[in-house]
Formats: sequence, C-alpha cells, structure tokens
Amino acid sequence: MPAMGTNLGTSDGRITDSQIAYYTERAKGGAGAIIFENSYVHKSGKTMFNMVALDDDSAVADFSRLADSVHKYGAKLIAQLNHGGRQTSRDICRKQPIAPSPIPCPVLREIPRELKIDEIGMLVNSFAQAAERVQKAGCDAVEFHMAHGYLVCQFLSPFSNQRSDIYGGSLENRVRFAREILQCTRAQVGDNFPLICRISADEMVPGGLVLEESRIIAQRLVEAGASALHVSACNYASYAWNIPCYYLDEGVFLHLAAAIKSVVEVPVIAVGRILTAQKAEEILQNNTADLVAVGRALIADPYWPEKSFRAASNEIRPCLSCNQCIESISKGRVVCGVNADVGNEGKSWTLPETSRKILVIGGGPSGLEAARVAAGLGHGVVLYEKKNRLGGLLQAASSPPGKESFAKLITYYEHQLNKLGVQIKLGQECCLKTVRFEKPDAVIMATGSTARMLFAEDGTRMRIMSSEEMLNDARHGGEKILVVGGGPEGAEVADFLAVRGKSVTVIEMKNKFAFGLPTSIRYHLEQKLKQNGVKLQRGVEVLRILKETVILKNRAGRQWEAGGFDTIVIAIGRNPVEDLMEELKELTIPVYVIGDARGPGRIKGAISDGSRVAREL
Ligand SMILES: Cc1cc2nc3c(=O)[nH]c(=O)nc-3n(C[C@H](O)[C@H](O)[C@H](O)COP(=O)(O)O)c2cc1C
Ligand code: SF4
Repeated sequence: MPAMGTNLGTSDGRITDSQIAYYTERAKGGAGAIIFENSYVHKSGKTMFNMVALDDDSAVADFSRLADSVHKYGAKLIAQLNHGGRQTSRDICRKQPIAPSPIPCPVLREIPRELKIDEIGMLVNSFAQAAERVQKAGCDAVEFHMAHGYLVCQFLSPFSNQRSDIYGGSLENRVRFAREILQCTRAQVGDNFPLICRISADEMVPGGLVLEESRIIAQRLVEAGASALHVSACNYASYAWNIPCYYLDEGVFLHLAAAIKSVVEVPVIAVGRILTAQKAEEILQNNTADLVAVGRALIADPYWPEKSFRAASNEIRPCLSCNQCIESISKGRVVCGVNADVGNEGKSWTLPETSRKILVIGGGPSGLEAARVAAGLGHGVVLYEKKNRLGGLLQAASSPPGKESFAKLITYYEHQLNKLGVQIKLGQECCLKTVRFEKPDAVIMATGSTARMLFAEDGTRMRIMSSEEMLNDARHGGEKILVVGGGPEGAEVADFLAVRGKSVTVIEMKNKFAFGLPTSIRYHLEQKLKQNGVKLQRGVEVLRILKETVILKNRAGRQWEAGGFDTIVIAIGRNPVEDLMEELKELTIPVYVIGDARGPGRIKGAISDGSRVAREL
C-alpha cells in the first residue's frame, strides 16, 4: 500500500486511534507492506493541517503504537518522510514556504524563500533524524518522498531549481541534496535498514524531469545508498495525472517503472491504477517491476489482498478511480466514494439485539448499500426494484466513455446481496399493498430521483429527453443535440454523444462546467469535450422550447432564438421520488428515507446514507 494522506491525525501532528485503526484494517486485509502517509521532518515542510509529525522524539511513541498494531497482522510498516518545500502555504506551515529557488508553484502561487546553504544542511539532518526515529519506533523501513514536486523533487528538477551554487544547475548538483539525505541517514541507521526513494520519473510538465534524466538520478540514488526505488510521476502542476482517474489507462506509469528497473540493480516498485491481482501478477511475471503498490483500491476495499489470495476477486468492492478520496483530503479527513467505513474502522457499532425484517424499496446505490449492511448485521432483507435490473443511476453513470468500470460496482452488490441471502424482487413496483403484504419491521425508502424536465411547446419537432434516458440507450439517436445543463451529468452526456460523432452544444447558466467533480476529473473531461468539438456556452439559460427552436438568454439579459437541433437533452438536476411517502405514514413501523429520495446527490452520499441507516435499524 503506497503512502496516502488521510488527514486523520491531529493538528499538532499526532497519530490518532482512528488512524491506527484505519491502517490496521489494511494490515488485516493482507497488505504485505504499508507505507504510512507522508509525515513532515521539519515544521516548515508541513503540507496539510493534520499532517503527522516526525520532527521530534515524541513521534517515536506514536509510530511505535502504529507499528505494533500493523505488525500483529504480519504486515511491514514503512514511514514516508517528506518536506513540502514550495508546495504548501503560509497558512499551513506558519512561515513563508521555503524552496531551492524563489519560484512559486504554478498551482499554489505562493512565492517561496530561497534556502541558504546552511539551511540545506539542517534539512538533510532533519530527514536523517526523522529516519532514526522511525527505526527506533520499530518500523521496517523509510521511504523518502522525492516525488510529486515536494522539496527533494524541487531540488532534482530544473522546473523548480534554478540555483547557481553546488545544489543547482547540472544534474549532479541537483541530485546532491537527495544524495546527502541518503548518505547522512545511512550513517545513522546502519546498513540493514531499508531506505526507499519515491521519485517522479516524469514530472509531465514542460521543463520538468523527464525519464531520460530520471534514469541517471535513479542510479545516483542507488550509489548513495537507496535500497529500493518507488516510481511515480508528476507534481502539483500536473495534478491531473498524478493520481490517475478513470479517464486514464490502468497501469499508466508502468513504462516508467520498467525503464528505471532496467538501469538499477535494486528492487523497483510500480504504482498507478493497478486495480486487479491479475494485473499485479502480470507486472511481476513480465519483470516490469519487483513490487506492486496498490493504493486507492485498498481504500475502497481493505481486504483486496486477502480476497485476491483466495481467488475471490468478485467479492472485492471496486475502486472507481473517481478521486473523491484525494479531493476530500484538501477539505477534511479522507472519505471514499464507495466505502462508507473509511475513517470509522475503529468505531464499535452497536449490534442489533434481534434480527428484524427490513424492506428496502429501490435498488440504486443507497438501497443496495442499505440492503448489504442490514443483511450483514443479520437482518432479513427484501429489496424491491421496479426496473428489471439493479443499479439505479449507476447504470447511466457507467455509460459515458471511461466510466465503464462503474458497472463493476453493480456486479459487486449483486454478488454481495446474493451471498447474504437478500431477497431481490426485480421488475416489481412497491406500493402500500406490497408493504402490507411483506409485513416488514422497518422500511427503507431508497426510491431515488427523477430528472427535472423542461416543458416544450405543443407539437415541438425536437425530441426531448433526460440525460439519464440518453445514457441508458444511445439508440435514441439524434445528430444535432443541445444539452441543457453543464454540470457533471450534462458534461458527461455531451462526451458520450460527441464520441459517437454527434454535433453537440452545451449551455450552462453558471460560469463553470462539470462543477462538483474532482478537479483532476474535470480537467480531463473538459479536454475531451474540447477535442471532440463540443460547443460550450457559459452563462446561458433556456427560456422556452418552441416547435423548431429554443429561446436562450444570457446573463446580460439578451435573448435570442437558436435552432438547428433535432434533440434536446435535459440535465438540470433531479427531484426526489416521494410518491409512497404520504401513504407510508399510515403505518406504525419506522420508515427511513435515504439517498436521492432524501435529497439528490452523488454516489458517495447515497452509499454513506445507506450504510448509516442500516446500522441505525
Ligand atoms: C488520498 C490520497 C492521498 C495521497 N497521499 C500521498 C502521500 O502522502 N504520499 C505520496 O507519495 N503519495 C500520495 N498519494 C499518491 C499514492 O501514493 C499513489 O501514488 C496514487 O494514489 C496512485 O496509486 P493508485 O492508483 O494505486 O491509487 C495519495 C493518493 C491519494 C488517493
Ligand atoms: S474515492 Fe473513488 S478513487 Fe478514491 S478509493 Fe474510493 S472509489 Fe477509489
């Protein structure tokens, strides 16, 4: 498991019980080695408010508790040592950020202070002392974060290092800081403590590190004492590739790992959208790398390794590469789009005293999760779904190009619900009579939502449908399509249509498109729309749909008539389906409303709603 920040620590850098529980769960799940999230070696290098500290000896006790807990389940614990350099802000590190050169990070834009030579020496010692603490705490290795545009990477890269002294200019000078860290640490921890270096073999920015140079850097690091290399990519300026989302290929950085492996003798770790055990095995068999790091897939399902070992991959809750996790840590603690238990691993839930009969109405993500958790707690669960397949909006969500893997989540739930003995009644609408017939002890209303629509003038010749209808069946056709609404649904349906060669125009009242999606995903979606010639009009709304044209209005109040469309796809939000709610009030049993039926939202909210309510039963 590669290092992944959780923000579960305290603001003064202490490891919390919930953090220990989070990692212990992944150790129980069978991870061979866990690289703990990046921790700062010096306060000036803090990059998150709740980042864990390794800058003084009080950290030893924390890491010791963590290591003991992880070791109980046979996993190795590796600490990742970091200094953010310019990739932080004054708000977090309390002073002007420091860096090799006073060049701001293009994303954060704060001008850093150039480090003086004696300060560089001080920071070398900070890394070495932090490594010593980690060793004292009983951890099995350290990983120096020399990747992703943080301080060491800033020294390595001409993108951020323009010094004219012995730490800048030539490659040998730029690699000096990293070499000194390794040499100084090696002198303090001895020969038998593994020192791993994580590098960005390609920064994927103009003027940044490229593979050719990184191969030489890799050799220099090994000469200076690196025991293994962990090959990643990017920095903040290339954030859209760093943690590869569903628009990027699986194993997107494997060519980098292979190229580094061919020039060094030490083990090489590959990372980046490695989602299945088959892929991991193929990497090892093909000698592409010596070790495989699986990150988000272990957030989504901590038992991924254990399930893979017993060839039960159909039991794995799939990571969707939806990047809600990375988006979440910029605002608070880590959450996962598909795993509502993330961060709650240490929580002791009150188990139900008696098994009850639960009726779940609706087989979308919230209903599926509620049924899964309730059945797992020993309740008898019956689930009604009016369509003849499970998934609800997940079906439409898996249609846009690149999002096909969302269908795996439906397969996961189908498998889980069957295994747990949930009675699934497909193609059956649940009404008050059905509820009376089933005689449940509680009802969970997961009836979802319907698309908000716009009304057209009688006799309009244009076909009008919701984005969901279009995504569920591309045979609806249409060649010249107006998409009304440029939120995630509108942008995705535009992408879906554009790759099918349609002429697509999207209008959106706000100034942004695909708002609400994680930034890395929005970036790729916007690029795709541009490349496929989709016309995007911001600050525009539709006032009326006439027989052959539409009346549009912009922010300045100007109105005009636009035509030439044969189809209008509406993506302006959704309304909860509440039909049964009033009738159910007649019953004396508890009724819980979850997911879109409670308030339209995204998959993450629906799943956490389902999980929460099932535990409250
Ligand atoms: C929530 C989150 C936090 C991350 N934090 C770190 C970190 O602390 N240090 C680091 O080197 N990489 C970090 N990463 C990057 C991961 O280590 C890994 O390179 C990336 O997720 C790609 O691997 P995957 O596709 O298996 O998830 C983080 C990724 C995520 C999703
Ligand atoms: S939030 Fe999305 S990308 Fe992150 S672990 Fe969960 S499913 Fe995977």
